[in-house]
Amino acid sequence: MAAQPGGMIVILTGAGISAESGLGTFRDLGGIWQQVRLEEVATPEAFARDPAYVQQFYNARRAQAGAVEPNAAHLALGELQRALGDGLMLVTQNVDDLHERGGAKAVHMHGSLFSALCAACGARHPWAGDLGNGEMCAACGQPALRPDVVWFGEMPHHMAEIEEALGVATLFVSIGTSGQVYPAAGFAQLARKAGAETLELNLEATGGPFDRVETGLASEIVPTFVASVIKAHAR
Ligand code: APR
Repeated sequence: MAAQPGGMIVILTGAGISAESGLGTFRDLGGIWQQVRLEEVATPEAFARDPAYVQQFYNARRAQAGAVEPNAAHLALGELQRALGDGLMLVTQNVDDLHERGGAKAVHMHGSLFSALCAACGARHPWAGDLGNGEMCAACGQPALRPDVVWFGEMPHHMAEIEEALGVATLFVSIGTSGQVYPAAGFAQLARKAGAETLELNLEATGGPFDRVETGLASEIVPTFVASVIKAHAR
């Protein structure tokens, strides 16, 4: 399936697109939320209760994300973005930087492991190494740096921009996400209401409101999808 040449495509990705690079997903067998309780590491209350434990959880994920490589799916989306330019909005729920290292610019609605947020002044700082407990903010001097990741109960980023794009999309594609967490889980319905075709590319069908579902490994089905869109666009 391909969008009408000139139509706007919105793509949403989740942890499944980074699985073959070696990063864990959340809800698959053995996933991150089966190894650690999200209530202990991914809420503001968890951070208030035990900041060192939360920092350590994200330090481990940042180190892991920095040690793996983008896979063919990330590279294909980079190629698609170069071909479509503003005709594509790539939104990710992921906090790794594999889209960027795969050559794409992604809208990170759940933040990024590679940024530190000052809980005191709201400043953001690129961050590559471990975040210690009570790390000093260079902007305000307060010892208040936390992971720049959206926790459960916090507002995802860039929602107005994403909803605007969903309102004019001709094609919405969901890649590597279980569609369990809102607001991302509602994007397919929003796009469909605006008249877009909806496509799911995932290891398994999630039962969401998709006109078409292609199951398989992202590293295989995403490059095939991208090739079909670029071919239709070139006509
Ligand atoms: N190729 C394609 N899809 C895959 C692959 C793969 N190699 N491996 C796993 N998947 C699919 C799984 O079938 C599943 O549907 O990726 C999806 C991953 O779902 P989740 O683990 O729930 O991850 P995600 O949907 O990104 O979670 C959304 O929940 O915990 C929060 O903030 C966190 O951003 C995350 C959000």
